[in-house]
Amino acid sequence: MPPTRSERGLGAAAGTGAPAEAVAPLMRGLAVLELLAGADGGPVSLSGLEKATGLARSTVDRIAATLARLGYVRLDGRDVVVAPRLLEPGNAYLASTGLPALLGPPANALADELDESVSLAVPDGDGVRFVHQATRRRAMSLSFRIGDLLPAERTAPGALFAADWEADDWEAWRIRRAADPDGSMFPSMPAGRDGNPEEDFRRRTETALREGWATDDQMIEPGLVALSVPVRRPDGRTACVLSVVSHTSRSTADGLREALLDRLRATAAGMEKALVRPRDERTGEYRVPEPLAGRAAASKQELGREFIESLARGLGVLTAFGAGAERLTLAEVAQATGLARATARRALITLTHLGYTETDGRHHWLTPRVLGLAHPALSRTTLARIARPHLARLSSSVKDSASLAVLSDDCVQYVARAATRRVMSVNITVGTRFPAFATSLGRVLLADLPHPVRNAFLDGADLRVLAPRTLTGTAELGAEIDRVGEQGYALVDEELEAGLRSIAVPVRDRTGAAVAALNVAMHSSSRTRRQCLDEVLPRLRSTASAIEEELRIAARFLEIAVM
Ligand code: PHB
Repeated sequence: MPPTRSERGLGAAAGTGAPAEAVAPLMRGLAVLELLAGADGGPVSLSGLEKATGLARSTVDRIAATLARLGYVRLDGRDVVVAPRLLEPGNAYLASTGLPALLGPPANALADELDESVSLAVPDGDGVRFVHQATRRRAMSLSFRIGDLLPAERTAPGALFAADWEADDWEAWRIRRAADPDGSMFPSMPAGRDGNPEEDFRRRTETALREGWATDDQMIEPGLVALSVPVRRPDGRTACVLSVVSHTSRSTADGLREALLDRLRATAAGMEKALVRPRDERTGEYRVPEPLAGRAAASKQELGREFIESLARGLGVLTAFGAGAERLTLAEVAQATGLARATARRALITLTHLGYTETDGRHHWLTPRVLGLAHPALSRTTLARIARPHLARLSSSVKDSASLAVLSDDCVQYVARAATRRVMSVNITVGTRFPAFATSLGRVLLADLPHPVRNAFLDGADLRVLAPRTLTGTAELGAEIDRVGEQGYALVDEELEAGLRSIAVPVRDRTGAAVAALNVAMHSSSRTRRQCLDEVLPRLRSTASAIEEELRIAARFLEIAVM
């Protein structure tokens, strides 16, 4: 029996009334993840989690250890924070709907054309959940994040969704409003405004039904105005709502409708055609890299009693779904996860109880609620933020500073760094720039450029002698950069500064392009060149892989800036 909208909204993960077969550790683990989501990704202390969940400290510790082991959270001293891998379940949901892959590009094109933010939202119970945002970044622009949930009555898309509601949906909506008058189940909703009266929402819903559009005149936030139209599936159901969002400094809600309704409708009509096309035209096909059963078993061996296998397995069920795997039977879930049927069945019963999956008795599918686990918290994450904990680990393992940098004109610019506390440590901060040609970071980035671009770079750069061993000849540098490209790392010795040696490797995005370089810098007396290659290079490489893996997960549906 699926929960009602109100049960789901009020955090069933923490609550009672679970089916007898529900997996208690999975419920507890999701309750912890929901608390972290409510804190916008953390940090939440272990004792804070203990208080908020009412669980024993030892249970909280085991849940945190399990989630950390799976890469879903990071333990930072006594604090727990959400890690990029927790985007995987939401990514599975987004891939399984196909909406961002099919409708994201036209939404982005519309945002570019209008120079306003454009979003796609789906219904989630009596709320509205954003699945795509093409955001304009400027002072007077407001918009929500992928995965944010807003109450239907306070948004333009909500009136369009409510146009399809039946009497029991309206009843569930009333119950939710009565149970949660402050809107605490909508953490992303700006505080301090009264809920809209029912008559007003009813009236706007009638307009939506009759006219096929809805507006938001500062219902959610002063200054925010929006115009929305539905995008329908071939069977007539609403797949999502397309909105253009503006600010009262540029337009009124009525002004948006007068100026843009036709344009918005034309885009929605094009989107509807894209939804008719066969689904395998979609891009971004992706499967869980490692069979879950293997990952869980290995972790169990490593962590022993601290690892809660049933939590790992249950969460793994969420990532069984994906592009081309929107609706799965129990047998398909069991096969995709490597779980026994009975185990998969109990996980699905639990997830359905908590509102993360739904079923018609035969097929199972993910709900948009899955998106709330990590997407809002991580939607503005950056490569620098992703890299930081990895740099810290690398730096403490090699006892020297580790840095991440990108090319900026003819320099490398540091975007993240973890320094050691050595007396003779290398003194560089985020934002520092050095001539690219004389640094290990620069050389691996230059090695990734097409030859003509790199040659133009060397011809234009100021190749000055900076230290005892600086290479300054264009031909010599070109040959060295070629070698760096072949060997996959750069070792630079006293070319930037006397006594400074560094070794760098590239960090690549999902297309294979080097988006940044990672290095370890040290005093040249601390290790021989051979020791650099034997001791530091393997750790640099595994750190780069770990960053690349998280970047690949994060950048699948989010735009990840460098910093
Ligand atoms: C959005 O942020 O995309 C948004 C916000 C409020 C609305 C519609 C869209 O009513």
